[in-house]
Amino acid sequence: MTGEAAERILMLRYYRDDEKSFDELCRRVAGAIADSPEEEAEYFDMMNTLRFLPNSPTLMNAGTDMNQLAACFTLYVGDSITEIFDAMKWGAMIHKSGGGTGYNFSNIRPEGAFVESSEGVASGPVSFMKAFDAVTGVIRQGGRRRGANMGILNVDHPDILKFINSKTREGDIANFNISVMVTDRFMGLVEAGRFDRVWITREETAEEITVGDIWNGITEGIWRNGEPGLLFYDEINRKNMTPALGNINATNPCGEQPLLPFESCVLGSINLSKFIDEKGETDLASLEKTIRTAVKFLDRIIDKNRYPIPEIEEATKRTRKVGLGLMGVHDALIMRRIPYDSPEGRKYCGSIMQFVAETAVSESGRLAEEKGPFPAWKGSVWEKNGKMVRNAALTTIAPTGSISIIAECSSGIEPVFSYSYTRMNTAGESFRMVHPLFKKELETVAGKLFPNPEERERRVGEVLSHVHETGTVQDIGWLPDSFTKIFTTALDIRWRDHILMQAAFQEHVHASISKTINMPGTSTKNEISEALLFAWRCRLKGITIYRTSSRKDAVLCLGKFG
Ligand code: CDP
Repeated sequence: MTGEAAERILMLRYYRDDEKSFDELCRRVAGAIADSPEEEAEYFDMMNTLRFLPNSPTLMNAGTDMNQLAACFTLYVGDSITEIFDAMKWGAMIHKSGGGTGYNFSNIRPEGAFVESSEGVASGPVSFMKAFDAVTGVIRQGGRRRGANMGILNVDHPDILKFINSKTREGDIANFNISVMVTDRFMGLVEAGRFDRVWITREETAEEITVGDIWNGITEGIWRNGEPGLLFYDEINRKNMTPALGNINATNPCGEQPLLPFESCVLGSINLSKFIDEKGETDLASLEKTIRTAVKFLDRIIDKNRYPIPEIEEATKRTRKVGLGLMGVHDALIMRRIPYDSPEGRKYCGSIMQFVAETAVSESGRLAEEKGPFPAWKGSVWEKNGKMVRNAALTTIAPTGSISIIAECSSGIEPVFSYSYTRMNTAGESFRMVHPLFKKELETVAGKLFPNPEERERRVGEVLSHVHETGTVQDIGWLPDSFTKIFTTALDIRWRDHILMQAAFQEHVHASISKTINMPGTSTKNEISEALLFAWRCRLKGITIYRTSSRKDAVLCLGKFG
């Protein structure tokens, strides 16, 4: 039932010693999470039919001694050696258990600042980040994949320029994504063109850093190799449902989960393409059922999970955040024959995500009636809105880098990267992948235009080679508009349309969204600046831009840590 590429990845990384099939894996996971035989059957069915898959740690670890099931963590990093190395140790424990970790390093005093206890000078956050990176390199996640981290620095930290430039050379600090946490005040100055304005004065040297220095560093870095990303602090905290527990200043590695220090989150994604019938209709009744089952499943995990340290268990159980999202979204749009980069596409996606969010909240309300709301509910925005729920946040959009390969659908809300490409898995094996919907539709179109079977075959073959080499079909003259408009790729789509799609989803997502905004190789720093400002105005919580060909080691459309 799973295809060849899926089977390979399952065998390499997901099956336990005694497992030989996806059926057995689903049985193990369902059995470990369910509270009753009826539930077990429901969970088994939604995974086995590839309508829903939880994040990799659940698939790998459920029902094993490890039993650590969450993908997303953030940790607190303080300014003392003890606190820094505690965080490093906890980070190693999280990676060992299969999770990824985010850190905001802004508490660490700047490089060159005085250190009283040793009468020396401080090394600064970037030096420590390198130490975290080295430790990650030593520990493989759950023994099965490379560890992932998010390193964050606030835009007003005196070492911000050093941080922005910390990954200038490709391969440096390779186990980290880095993001600058920017504020509305800073973005407002950028928008107003106040680049000469002094933003930070370094205490020891009196060196002045202007808004322009920082903005240039950011756009230059993104132009060069796609980093840093930006996180929008004020928007993240305007949507923080538990402000009484403090402000949020960090996310997990791929950015889709803003979390309080020590919180963890389990993700799960519904494969939207499984809910579209041959006529292109969305089966909302069946989608609703899956959303409800998925919420129950993710909520159960919070109680069944084995947490790496007690602080994480405590923080996670206080808010009981879960991350339900979608994958296979572009596939669903193709099946409905709606262009990804169109108002109609965004409207459909927005309405589906609204349906997911509202149904998830309703199911969480039902669970709250049964078991009580999340412990920090009193004083939360949910309480203020008169809504009792069991989970402080329910929806998210994960990259689904691995689980979309297992489900054989387009990843997360990303547009298809190419309809034919060679994909390399982590074992270094390559697979030629041709998108099944593309191939089918191409044959139909060619069949109508070229009655002669030989010519038809030749034309189809030419398109397949062309798309394999160049990634696009937009320049093939004989393909009708109705075909090329539907079969656009991540690189065909303009950055503005990428951002508008992210915004359409964000409106109904409690947490955040992992998405890459692709820009052509010829894009300038000015266009990058425009895109960043546009993202901020669209009220995104974060943005990642990638300019085509700016990295040598780019892995085709895999999640950043594949
Ligand atoms: O598809 P899969 O469940 O494997 O993961 P994903 O959706 O691509 O990534 C979800 C989250 O898992 C990321 O944001 C990270 O927090 C974490 N992750 C990780 O820790 N290590 C990786 N190699 C990949 C993902």
